[in-house]
Amino acid sequence: MTDINKDELSWDEWDELVRPTEEITEFDRVVDAGLSRRGFLGGLVAFGSGAAVMGLGTGASLMTSTSVQAQAASGRFAFAPVGIATDATVHVPEGYIWDILVKWGDKLFSDAADFDSETGVPVASSGRVFGENTDGMELFVVGDKQVIAVNSEYVNPKINLPHTGDGKPQSADDVKMLQNFQGVTVMEVEEGADGWKVVVDSPFNRRITHNTEMRISGPAAGHDLLKTDADPTGTKSLGTFNNCGAGKTPWGTYLTCEENFNGYFGSTDDTFERPDDYKRYGISNESRYSYEKFDARFDISKNGNEPRRAGYIVEIDPSNPDSTPVKRTALGRFKHENAACTLAPSGQVVVYMGDDERGEFLYKFVSNGTYTPGAPTDGLLDDGQLYVAKFADDGNGEWVALTPEATGMSKEEICIFSRMAASKVGATTMDRPEWVAVNPVSVEAYCALTNNKNRGVKPNAGGDDTAVNGPNPREKNNYGQIVRWYPANDDHGASAFKWDLYVMAGNPEVHGDSAYAGSSNVNAGNMFNSPDGMMFDSSGLLWIQTDGNYKNEGDFAGMGNNQMLVGDPVTGQIERFMTVPYGAEVTGVTWSADRRTLFVGIQHPKAPFPDGDGKLARSAVIAVKRADNALIG
Ligand code: FEO
Ligand code: CA
Ligand code: CA
Repeated sequence: MTDINKDELSWDEWDELVRPTEEITEFDRVVDAGLSRRGFLGGLVAFGSGAAVMGLGTGASLMTSTSVQAQAASGRFAFAPVGIATDATVHVPEGYIWDILVKWGDKLFSDAADFDSETGVPVASSGRVFGENTDGMELFVVGDKQVIAVNSEYVNPKINLPHTGDGKPQSADDVKMLQNFQGVTVMEVEEGADGWKVVVDSPFNRRITHNTEMRISGPAAGHDLLKTDADPTGTKSLGTFNNCGAGKTPWGTYLTCEENFNGYFGSTDDTFERPDDYKRYGISNESRYSYEKFDARFDISKNGNEPRRAGYIVEIDPSNPDSTPVKRTALGRFKHENAACTLAPSGQVVVYMGDDERGEFLYKFVSNGTYTPGAPTDGLLDDGQLYVAKFADDGNGEWVALTPEATGMSKEEICIFSRMAASKVGATTMDRPEWVAVNPVSVEAYCALTNNKNRGVKPNAGGDDTAVNGPNPREKNNYGQIVRWYPANDDHGASAFKWDLYVMAGNPEVHGDSAYAGSSNVNAGNMFNSPDGMMFDSSGLLWIQTDGNYKNEGDFAGMGNNQMLVGDPVTGQIERFMTVPYGAEVTGVTWSADRRTLFVGIQHPKAPFPDGDGKLARSAVIAVKRADNALIG
């Protein structure tokens, strides 16, 4: 474990390193070598025929009249696809233009110091500037203002602490700086003659960091497992961590999702024996940024419950900069990717959520109460039922309720240890569920299963079987796929669903017609790997962002840098809209109120983007427009 440069690892690689699970060596898991492969190839034939891609198979009978409208509007992409790129900048289709909206370190308040292209940001300003590693975001219209809430997922310490040389925090101030660069930014934006800008000093501007006070609500609030010496009530925590994807409620609040929270906690005592629940969640004696050395709150040998107060979905009111963010424990605790909200016909609130780790699960929450515009909404995400998905290979599926009866766990324990509850009911292990997107013009939802090199190789962290299965049909899946489901009776609140695969990414140039060539809607002109961010536009087109291998060689030859594509749910057609700089992932997308601007997040560029050679690389949000100012999407 020691001669690997851990600073260069992605979060999932780091997790694998600090918490290895055993490989399955006895491959007389007959299925692996024989049955499942045959089953998969059979499925591929059906897939290759186009039936599954077009939604004409398992889901056809459940499609609604709104699907017909979508079909009538399909077959049109208002852009000429772009080719792959391997360079240091952004490419958009001909007739489109892009500009920077905001970069890490840009001022939100005029009292912050100017960003220095060699030394970055001083600690005194670190909580007054735009955060690092931009991720999920949503735009809100508040009166006549436009306000964006946007996540800053993690940090790149070598870039963010340039004075340290190696990126290792050397003081409490260094830790404070890293804590301030993460969390959430709320900022007013406006479009003027010279493009989009952040409104510096707007009363809406706000930084929510690793030290911002949160209220813990829902069934687990006040439970003994959430109490600490500093908070004996178990209802008041500090900070939100590793804010990855996002969501927006029908009542205009922002949902930020705590993903790889485990990596922030460590032990100053090497002999500290971790409890079992730490192991399932990947909480290790070794942290990523050494917070525990300078901030005892993150030292698990001293504050054992602190990590149990992270891993939730947090609701933020972007219209009120004085509001306290709320950790909604009813939505479960896991590595939350995003939170895709919709309403059931009854008015119940449905939130779909992925747990992004190899072999973890796909969840949904259904509120007990119903949403009525103008009525109080504070309790809606505190009172309801958490479910986990079980996919059958025949195209059927079921949302299994995580109840005390089904799991043998208390309601509170289900909220805090949701992964264990899901394991107990035999949920389907998935290939790293990233974003879920709900189609606004057809009753269906999609989840990006980004990749899973452990599929068919190792169980998940809870020991659950990860042999290939219906929606996760490839061993050592290095390309990823997008699964889609159609709820029974056109009701997102229903327990039954049908599913199919919208696309299996792959490389037809390298793999010919094998399973790794991908589905029939993948071709030499639109190849990609590792779908991650996903969002529907209001016309029902699916915007797909990638966070994958950008080496452009071997299995990934012909794919180039990470990219954003657009998919038509009805025809299955997918075309490439954008490429981003070398090393960056593209993550987070939202639209201006008039839909004439698309805001896109560019995270962790390795290229000297956007300030050029010799300058610190900076994550950024860009604004993309059509040159003729027409609608986008
Ligand atoms: Fe933060 Fe799973 O991406
Ligand atoms: Ca992601
Ligand atoms: Ca990812």
